[in-house]
Amino acid sequence: MSSLFGQASLFLLLSTFLSFFNAEAKIHHLKWEIKYEYKSPDCFRKLAITINGLTPGPMITATQGDTLVVDVTNTLLTENAAIHWHGIRQIGTPWSDGTEGVTQCPIMPGDTFTYRFVVDRAGTYMYHAHYGMQRSAGLHGLIRVLVPPGTVEPFKYDDELHLVLNDWWHKSTYEQTAGLSSPNFEWVGEPQSLLINGRGKFNCSLAGGGDSCNLANSECSPASLTVVQGRTYRLRIASVASLSAFNLEIEAHNMTIVEVDGYYVKPVVVKNLNIYSGETYSVILKADEDKSRNYWVALNVVSRKPNTPTGTAILNYYPNHPLKPPPTATPIGPPWNDTLYRFNQSKSIVSHPNFIEAPPPTSNRLIILLNTFLTSPLSPTPTLSRHHHPHPTAWALNNISFTLPTTPYLIAMKSQMQHVFSQKPAPETYDYKNYNIHVVSSNPNTVSSNSVYRLEFGSTVDVILQNANTLSANNSETHPWHLHGHDFWVLGYGMGKFDPEVDSKKYNLFDPIQRNTVPLHPYGWTALRFRADNPGVWAFHCHIEAHFFMGMGVVFEEGVEKVGELPSSIMGCGESKHLRRRA
Ligand code: C2O
Ligand code: CU
Repeated sequence: MSSLFGQASLFLLLSTFLSFFNAEAKIHHLKWEIKYEYKSPDCFRKLAITINGLTPGPMITATQGDTLVVDVTNTLLTENAAIHWHGIRQIGTPWSDGTEGVTQCPIMPGDTFTYRFVVDRAGTYMYHAHYGMQRSAGLHGLIRVLVPPGTVEPFKYDDELHLVLNDWWHKSTYEQTAGLSSPNFEWVGEPQSLLINGRGKFNCSLAGGGDSCNLANSECSPASLTVVQGRTYRLRIASVASLSAFNLEIEAHNMTIVEVDGYYVKPVVVKNLNIYSGETYSVILKADEDKSRNYWVALNVVSRKPNTPTGTAILNYYPNHPLKPPPTATPIGPPWNDTLYRFNQSKSIVSHPNFIEAPPPTSNRLIILLNTFLTSPLSPTPTLSRHHHPHPTAWALNNISFTLPTTPYLIAMKSQMQHVFSQKPAPETYDYKNYNIHVVSSNPNTVSSNSVYRLEFGSTVDVILQNANTLSANNSETHPWHLHGHDFWVLGYGMGKFDPEVDSKKYNLFDPIQRNTVPLHPYGWTALRFRADNPGVWAFHCHIEAHFFMGMGVVFEEGVEKVGELPSSIMGCGESKHLRRRA
């Protein structure tokens, strides 16, 4: 096994191992109260979900090997909740993953639920709600996991800054979900604003009068990042967007990509960074411009035809006033429909040469997932399921539109309940010889199901995400796919239909990046490999909030029999009522 790893990665493994036994490993005890509050992040007043009064929530900073203990009190009054620690693998604590319906029952109003887990890998991560579409309501934030003292990173900087990127709607998530699941399907539409560190600017003249929109409100003054000329900064960037793919540009400055999702990258210099929902980056920024003025930080929508103004923040050169607007026009980014440009940027991201952890050279299983969109009526759900009337408009993988069971999988599988989710194995592939991904297809055989993929513990699994045409001619969308509980190697991206015979021979087995979220580009395919070595039950889904809600996800199980005794705090819903009482 060790022959598969380079020396650098052996060192990494060793330092990870040591940090667990590091006498300095700390326990961070956080107390969070989540509730609805009126906020005006883009000057328009609406209800947002806050953590201790904040949206985005408080930034978490810990050191690799530390333990986080987060007491979450649900004060939403009439709404359940759950919080997912996106990018944290939850090794040994699958019940703390925070995925409602998969790893836990929701936290009911008035209850306090304690998440307890180790942050085992340095890097930039995020947390967010994983119940309904609550992430869209503002329940999200950044996690920074620092390297243990004495560890040298492959880049240098004087200071850190951060950017949390988001898209924002004025409709409530209730209105959005009701629209998505109604028979006269109502799409959420393009966002009203783009937010940087929770701040944006809506054109209040469109808000129809009244005092609900006020440009003078200090809650919507732009985010400002202050830099000193001559210094170098590490910018940690996370996209918690509900829908949009973003292009980020910092006027007159290049960015050097050095980290993605906790892995060091062979440095890539870019003028524009494409970032998809669920992704995190660290970039190095040199403050080497004329210091007599400020510069724009500009966020533009790509991959969907934009109908939202550019999101802006200010790169403030000391000693200018932090809010002094730059004298120039806001950068408008690359053409929104330049897929090839985004595809090539994705391909350019590979592992840092000194930190290569080579993937296993072969895999034990190949799962090809065809991503399709449909409006045909779905057959009724065969087993107990959240939606007794499945969504009439849905996303599907290999003709299965995913629906959550009423009893979370982790509890059901650990206690061997066979009747609470479909026992029919989820399909391994689709008819790739005959299916035409370039034409509109109604995919009439699609059903709604909560079936899962059971993976052999310790095996290596390849997943090919295959994109296709939507229900509009010449349209295929970008889907950022996120895997819980693991990081995967990105073996390749392609345009068109994946051919297992031909394309698997072109995989990058030498220096592929590892990460937890990856884009599937329009009409393209993305190939991933991971080791099924983390006992638990893990969601793998499109990180677009509305797409997952409409069935765009699957579930993997591995080694559930190796999972330790489940805390009874995750139980209480569906068939796990009885278990909680007993516990
Ligand atoms: Cu960040 Cu299951 O998601
Ligand atoms: Cu999607």
